[in-house]
Amino acid sequence: MAIKGVLRASMMQVRVLNIEDSVKFYRDILGLEEVCRTEDGRVCFKGYDEFDHHTFTIRLADKPGLDFLAFKVSCPKALDEIEEQTKAFGLDYEVIEANTDQPGYGKRLAVQLPTGHRIDLFAEVEMAENHPDLHNPDIWPGGKQPKGVGATMVDHALLFGPNSAEAVRYMKEVMGLGVAEVARTPDGKADACTWLTGSNRPHDVAVLEFDQPGKIHHLAFKLNSWTEVGRAADILTINNVMIDAGPMRHGITRGYTIYFFDPSGNRCELFAGGYAYYPDMPVRVWDFDQLGKGIFYYDRKLKENYLEVIT
Ligand SMILES: [Fe+2]
Repeated sequence: MAIKGVLRASMMQVRVLNIEDSVKFYRDILGLEEVCRTEDGRVCFKGYDEFDHHTFTIRLADKPGLDFLAFKVSCPKALDEIEEQTKAFGLDYEVIEANTDQPGYGKRLAVQLPTGHRIDLFAEVEMAENHPDLHNPDIWPGGKQPKGVGATMVDHALLFGPNSAEAVRYMKEVMGLGVAEVARTPDGKADACTWLTGSNRPHDVAVLEFDQPGKIHHLAFKLNSWTEVGRAADILTINNVMIDAGPMRHGITRGYTIYFFDPSGNRCELFAGGYAYYPDMPVRVWDFDQLGKGIFYYDRKLKENYLEVIT
């Protein structure tokens, strides 16, 4: 295996205001499979193309937002090395024992980023019961078409918070993520936003400098193609989901995309395509005044609501 260390953003826990409305949204409209419910009422899901026990958990809370974004690491030894390097880097972290709050998961490191976000890292997780076929595989597990838009897997999140340069330094130096693209501040002297990746995706996480800690702009699931993004727009519209932007294309990552809100006001994205990243690629740089084209490639200007709503 050539890719070692942090493999990808593979799991997240999100806060919602109503469990059953959220289950209908994530299960019936986005097409995630409901895997299990915990004693304290959280619901765990997975996309049809994921092997891990579950990859998306919702938790009842007063406010929407992201509890944590978890990255899968290639092996326990790599996780031990990340723990040592996290200590040396000086970030606070906690060890979460196996099979506690997330059924099926091994030990996790829960690291507090200086942006106010929690990043979990883990190496071991049980295989999902309903995983993609392994023998003479069909395109969907057991040949069964996924529900709704058929989101394939967790893809990435865009984090908003202060001290983003220090969080990016941790992701580069300790997590070993590569920087695919940056957007400069208006004076061009620093990075306002950084897109980072663990393997071949154009991004697993992006971090934008912002005055309030621990916020997210959106969380994203993967689709396979521009055609699937168009079909998702149809299904979201039929189900009266509030669409925020798209279907459209990004200049940054070159991905095809649509943004919309879950019933609690969390902005979600369905993302397809984008270039394949390799660690020898140089960083692509966006000037601040070109961000409209970077995000809304065809319109070439930013939409106000796109920047105003965060959770
Ligand atoms: Fe995104």
